[in-house]
Amino acid sequence: MSGNVVISTKQVNMFYSGKQAIKDVTVNVYENLVTAIIGPSGCGKSTLLRSFNRMNDFVEGFSVHGDILYRGQNINAQDVTELRKRVGMVFQRPNPFPKTIYENITWGPKIHGRKDNLDEVVEDSLKRAALWDEVKDRLHSFAFSLSGGQQQRLCIARTVAMKPDVILMDEPCSALDPKSTTRIEDLINDLKKEYTIVIVTHNMQQAARVSDHTAFFYEGEMVEFGETDSIFTNPKKKQTEDYITGRFG
Ligand SMILES: Nc1ncnc2c1ncn2[C@@H]1O[C@H](COP(=O)(O)OP(=O)(O)O)[C@@H](O)[C@H]1O
Ligand SMILES: [Mg+2]
Repeated sequence: MSGNVVISTKQVNMFYSGKQAIKDVTVNVYENLVTAIIGPSGCGKSTLLRSFNRMNDFVEGFSVHGDILYRGQNINAQDVTELRKRVGMVFQRPNPFPKTIYENITWGPKIHGRKDNLDEVVEDSLKRAALWDEVKDRLHSFAFSLSGGQQQRLCIARTVAMKPDVILMDEPCSALDPKSTTRIEDLINDLKKEYTIVIVTHNMQQAARVSDHTAFFYEGEMVEFGETDSIFTNPKKKQTEDYITGRFG
């Protein structure tokens, strides 16, 4: 493992009302790589991912112990709005705002008082999200007129418009058809040139296709972390092998 570490956790434990969801996890996320978090349902993937930009802060009864660092600084010592600008998130179900395509993208930059040319922000963000060609003639249509796959790319464009450093994706293709899934996977491959990506997926083939590093979780523990190729071809732990060969999960 080499390269710059963008996000790291050090022996982190997380609880929901005293029930442990993440156990003693130490992991590094490296710059301009795709890190996949895999494991059976309920193993803590979303909990860990959401902690990277403090999305669990407002969940009642949630607590986290141990350090989570973004670019070497404890995330709790950072302004949460600023942190979420740097560490953006794309969710499982496409969740555009009930506004036009154009407004979905400009909303964030506007409320943050950015002075850049909004037309340029829209074009640039949609191009980066591989959606421009499909929507350039109808930027003022309602976002919900798009297909599910297009809506998810719009959500990626909306995240990109904030000029993030890291993009967190929580099962971004689980609500999409195979064709849209392929488009998003191709897009992830492009985006990693400029961003650091962490993707939660329950689809092992997807993890194998898109990621450089894979972390396998089971019941809140990180069982194994490594280069994706070696996790899938030569896992060191029996539990990892059982999972990737489909014996459970
Ligand atoms: N908001 C919540 N309140 C209480 N328990 C939760 C909450 N979210 C998740 N959990 C519990 O934490 C554990 C990990 O959940 P989660 O991170 O969503 O797993 P995954 O994303 O791997 O399916 C599960 O036991 C789940 O029931
Ligand atoms: Mg989840």
